[in-house]
Amino acid sequence: MLFKLTDEQLMIQNMVREFSRKVVAPTAADRDKTKEFPADIFAQMGELGLMGMLIPEAYGGEGADTVSYVLALSEIAYSCASVSVVMSVQNSIVCESLFKFGTEEQKQEYLVPLASGEMIGAFALTEPDAGSDPVSQEATALRDGDDYIINGTKRFITSGANSKVVLVTAKTDPGAGHKGISAFIVPKGTKGLVVGHVEDKMGLRASDTTDLIFEDCRVPKSQMLSKEGDGFKIAMSGLDAGRIGIAAQSLGVAQAAFDAAVKYAKKRKQFGTSISKHQGIRFQIADMATQIEAAKQLVLSAASMKDRQITYSKEASIAKLFASEMVNQITARAIQIHGGYGFTKDYDVERFYRDARVFTIYEGTSEIQRIVISNHVLKDKRKP
Ligand code: CAA
Repeated sequence: MLFKLTDEQLMIQNMVREFSRKVVAPTAADRDKTKEFPADIFAQMGELGLMGMLIPEAYGGEGADTVSYVLALSEIAYSCASVSVVMSVQNSIVCESLFKFGTEEQKQEYLVPLASGEMIGAFALTEPDAGSDPVSQEATALRDGDDYIINGTKRFITSGANSKVVLVTAKTDPGAGHKGISAFIVPKGTKGLVVGHVEDKMGLRASDTTDLIFEDCRVPKSQMLSKEGDGFKIAMSGLDAGRIGIAAQSLGVAQAAFDAAVKYAKKRKQFGTSISKHQGIRFQIADMATQIEAAKQLVLSAASMKDRQITYSKEASIAKLFASEMVNQITARAIQIHGGYGFTKDYDVERFYRDARVFTIYEGTSEIQRIVISNHVLKDKRKP
């Protein structure tokens, strides 16, 4: 591999690989059927420092770099994509947003338990009519004395039901476009915050995705993250980091599908020899290996730019675009190599294919990534 990992990064990768294959993998297929949220696994991941990897130890985290984080996330995704999406949202858009924008009191109260894995967090930006265009969101947070009163419905919220705290965006100045959006920290149990519809999804079935309904939900001003009008930028910068995570997740699932396809191709015999001896299969395997390697370099490179504090929005989008499209091709090819068996639930590739489908959609569709990339390349902003 071109990218040289440090001893510490390799150690973290090996440690997470062992944990993932021993603890996460054996129950992944069951969870896909039962949709059971694996709270016990997250508790163990918290103890290993995997729920706040990028947060300094002083705030309950692991103080790891982003390269180590993407290696770890890929290893978890290799075994169970549902577990990895919760890990991704928790580490990046929840914990990092609190670390970057939270006050000391907010960090002590929320970041410490989140980063140490004692509780799960959610980030609520999307709404029924505002997905790719979050500026058009309709939730409001109107000032009332020292409080804000939040009203609105958030949709497709990862860990909407299983989270204990939610970072939510809402309009504090509805006429001011993106500058009128603010972010708030709302603990579950706050009056007026209820979990709504729970989605029945094609994949990632052990990770809950729900509506969150805010109905006259009163929060004190001290629960605002950063200041009025900063909500959109908090979301955008959180999504930059989040997109590297989704790219890493894509890599993990692609590697799992690839390994399964190679194993099957060596074992399965047709026309008197194992199908891995047929050029049609060999060429597919070569193409898959090439695609995975290319995605790996993009993910590691974007992660390393973030670690070196170089602006990385474009590279995060490139990594996310390439890796998420790549994993959809790899999982489809893995099924093809398995033939009819790949279409059954007896083989994991069927689950990998379903899990991967959303990767080109959430945390910014492939179309949104192309907008971000072209805006950076052309250095002029073109609206969607
Ligand atoms: N970091 C910081 N600030 C940023 C930024 C970034 N990456 N990108 C934009 N901004 C700032 C801009 O500088 C600008 O600020 P100024 O006016 O002060 O200059 C402001 O934000 C507005 O920027 P744009 O005009 O570019 O914004 P836009 O309305 O045209 O939108 C977009 C740009 C890229 C299309 C954006 O809306 C976007 O990313 N949409 C997709 C949303 C998305 O990814 N949703 C996923 C939901 S979350 C999820 O899926 C999580 C989960 O649970 C798994």
